[in-house]
Amino acid sequence: MVRLAVLASGSGTNLGALLEAAADPGYPCDVSLVVSDVPGCGALARADAAGVETAVVTWADHGGDRRAFTAAIVDELRRRDVELVALAGFMRILDAGIVDAYPNAILNTHPSLLPAFRGAHAVNEALDAGVKVTGVTVHVVDEKVDHGPIVAQACVAVDDDDSPETLHERIKAVEHELFPRVVADWARGTFAVEGTRVRRRAVARRT
Ligand code: GAR
Repeated sequence: MVRLAVLASGSGTNLGALLEAAADPGYPCDVSLVVSDVPGCGALARADAAGVETAVVTWADHGGDRRAFTAAIVDELRRRDVELVALAGFMRILDAGIVDAYPNAILNTHPSLLPAFRGAHAVNEALDAGVKVTGVTVHVVDEKVDHGPIVAQACVAVDDDDSPETLHERIKAVEHELFPRVVADWARGTFAVEGTRVRRRAVARRT
């Protein structure tokens, strides 16, 4: 069983999807810890309801020092022997220290087809750009923001009358299916990173 930590800042619907998936005995990860930078957020409430340990690490507590903020999160992860990290709507930029601590072991879900629309406003920017198709990207986290080898993508059509809210809701519905599946495949060793690309291995490393 792979010890998974989920980092989240918001309502935590993607955390909810991971918790639901992990409730299945066949799922290869145990959600061992939820870390948030936002006290009282929905993600923390979901973790509490599921009986999952939580840690709150705020930006303010570390004086806005990105390196110290990231180091505090890494401390929380190491203390619980976390092996794999899922960023599920974690809205603070982390320092490269977390990538050094967890190389190729941090996955992020992002609400666009990367490399389009990086950052915190991907859904609004897709609408403003007038694209007809956007979607979800799950990628390995490297030292840049919303960047790193892409593991999986799924498309979502943009409707003429979409608002940011309606479009994001449909994107999240796709994330809720894709992210837990990709996290499980990653934990099973189904994929290998080769430079900037991720390839499916012929035979999984472990089951
Ligand atoms: C998700 O759509 C996730 O992809 C996005 O935040 C949302 C969190 O929703 N993440 C980013 O934009 C990261 N750049 P949730 O709190 O309901 O899971």
